[in-house]
Amino acid sequence: MIEKRAPGKLYIAGEYAVVQPGGSAVLVAVDRYITVRLTEGSEVGRVRSSAYGRTPLEWVRDDANDRIVLEHHPTDYVFAAITASEQLRSSRGLAPRYYDLDISSELDDVSGQKYGLGSSGAVTIAVIDALDEFYRLGLTPTERFKLALLATIEVSPDSSGGDLAASTFGGWIRYSSPDRAALRTHRAAHGTVETLSSVREWAGSSVRRLPHPNHLDLLVGWTGSPASTERLVEQVRRTEERPAVIPYDSFADDSRACVDDLAAAFARRGEGALEVVHRARRVLQRLSASSGVLIETAQLRALCDIAERHGAAAKPSGAGGGDCGIVLTRTDSPASPADEIIREWRENDILPLSLAPHPAAGDIDDF
Ligand code: PMV
Repeated sequence: MIEKRAPGKLYIAGEYAVVQPGGSAVLVAVDRYITVRLTEGSEVGRVRSSAYGRTPLEWVRDDANDRIVLEHHPTDYVFAAITASEQLRSSRGLAPRYYDLDISSELDDVSGQKYGLGSSGAVTIAVIDALDEFYRLGLTPTERFKLALLATIEVSPDSSGGDLAASTFGGWIRYSSPDRAALRTHRAAHGTVETLSSVREWAGSSVRRLPHPNHLDLLVGWTGSPASTERLVEQVRRTEERPAVIPYDSFADDSRACVDDLAAAFARRGEGALEVVHRARRVLQRLSASSGVLIETAQLRALCDIAERHGAAAKPSGAGGGDCGIVLTRTDSPASPADEIIREWRENDILPLSLAPHPAAGDIDDF
């Protein structure tokens, strides 16, 4: 049996702006995981996950086209990851095999609700890791990340891929996204292998490690309501076409300044980081006001306001509309406000999630 796990993630800054090619964000990988267990199968492949109901999904090969045909329910990211890995396997002339995937997740609550910690990104990475080992593809972390991004944008073309970068490389990172439309077009015309190694299509994209901010503590609160990132990103995009909308022209620049300043603050052991997170919350509030898309729900507002009242910095993490908010506090201040913040969160039905960064691992090559 092959067992692979991939961590979830949190956005710290740069949401929405990172969707534009070349846009940047700061993320951290967190120590909650999706685990994929792979065992060799025969005649049929299966995917089992408590999140997909009790009955396993089954797939068979269309031998004529060397393609995967999904017979039951579309578990889109898993099958996009299988498809992309199989294309790589085929291009290397390796014999196809069947395998069963068993998926278990710590990125959902007991009732199966998502926390917004990047479960689709983590499952994509864990499946690709498992198949990399199963077929002995020998992919580098950067190649696995790229393959996962190609798989993901077949399902969700707007996804920036920040979640995949956090899941692949761990730790704190600064991520800049490639032009995913160009990648899709290139893959459709030239195939997966060609696209993985194409220099032009990945231009402007990078992942850089940020130092662990020793003097900062990360608190995470869950609002209890899951949100649809794809729908929110789509709504924000659509407002750009509406004439009545008050434009927020400097959004991309303001967001990038937050990402740059946060990276610089981390390099100074966190000095100035709280001010940047505070600013990043206002940048998202302005985006919300100009687009009419609700990013900071009443629960997220309460989560952030409570933290700010205690001298911490807070903001929604990711697309907002529910999910999680993050808080940074300084560990070198005389009295940490964490206990007080958590107490008030509980009074307001905000669930503190006990998370720590998942450690950085693996080299990051230039794209
Ligand atoms: O809602 P999350 O945690 O999946 O984060 C979404 C972040 C966006 O920038 C809004 C979208 C993206 O794909 O980067």
